[in-house]
Amino acid sequence: MTATSPGIEAVLALAREDIRALEPYKNASWEPAFTRLHANESPWPPAFDTADGDGRLHRYPQPQPPELLKALSGAWGVDPSQVLVGRGSDEAIDLVTRVFCVAGQDSVVVCPPTFGMYAVAARIQGAAVRRVPLDAAKGFALDVPGVCAAIDAGAKIVWLCTPNNPTGTVLAREDILAVLAAAAGRALVIVDEAYVEFTDRPSWTLEVSRHPHLATLRTLSKAHALAGARMGAIVAAPQIIALLRRIVPPYAVPEPTLRASLAAMRPDALAVTDRRIARLNAERERLAAGLATCSGVTRVCPSAANFLLVEWRDAGEALARLRAAGLLVRDFRGYDGLGQTLRLTVGSPDENDRMLEVLA
Ligand SMILES: Cc1ncc(COP(=O)(O)O)c(C=O)c1O
Repeated sequence: MTATSPGIEAVLALAREDIRALEPYKNASWEPAFTRLHANESPWPPAFDTADGDGRLHRYPQPQPPELLKALSGAWGVDPSQVLVGRGSDEAIDLVTRVFCVAGQDSVVVCPPTFGMYAVAARIQGAAVRRVPLDAAKGFALDVPGVCAAIDAGAKIVWLCTPNNPTGTVLAREDILAVLAAAAGRALVIVDEAYVEFTDRPSWTLEVSRHPHLATLRTLSKAHALAGARMGAIVAAPQIIALLRRIVPPYAVPEPTLRASLAAMRPDALAVTDRRIARLNAERERLAAGLATCSGVTRVCPSAANFLLVEWRDAGEALARLRAAGLLVRDFRGYDGLGQTLRLTVGSPDENDRMLEVLA
């Protein structure tokens, strides 16, 4: 614990009282040495090929598989007790909002333009959304006094995303530390690190043990190429993880997802991932340089992730040209004050060449 960190008790006191008192659902116990006649499963595997689940698709999967928690926590430099896994980090966003926000009473802070699910999860839960926009004139920097004012006004969760989607910006370390100091004992600060693998900055996940009111989100959907498997995690103090475990759906990790995730964490796969990250980062810079020479482009935001936010004189015209060539990009026109912008995901070298040809 540091001078700016509250004790864990103060953080737990922010959680909903009814969730702290909740009697959770009891999963069918996991005892592999026994014949399973306790979970109303089929005694036979499905009639079709079961290679995906390695012959286990007729069995409920192990909740929060220890093998996976060990592999992920090892890769991220934390303890397995600090990790909760689920269906993408999207699920973690939903769970943590539900644990901490009382409907009709609590609020969360979001810093637009940013990932949309923080606000959606809050609205689903009936929590208010306090918007403190990033400062576009300062390269989409955090408005620290604005965030602190929202914490003063009683916000329970502060959502920070670095590198931020859709701007690609890395939030300044001193700004996040200032928010952490202001939030001590009053709010949970959650740093979404979905794209952290693309940066050379140390991960905030390594600091979770020092600040009981800091949590991070991690995902295998981006650099690890597993968007289709749906595997994401929240990293937080073990006591917060224990609270989240009370409400996570009973069998949150399907067997094929478990296998794919474990395979992605093996050294040979991690070595391939590292090479791909270097390649995608180089492609991002090549794409950015090429786009900067395109006549309609007015700004290419510096990005530390696998995408670029690009401003056009007429983004609609660029979008139409890309669509006509069969290329899908994300339209951010008018979204949270972004103006004529599109977000382009960095693809393979061939795909990036096509994009540049179409836009040249
Ligand atoms: C910043 C950020 N966080 C979280 C997610 C959700 O990722 P997933 O649910 O695939 O882990 C995304 C997806 O695009 C994202 O951009």
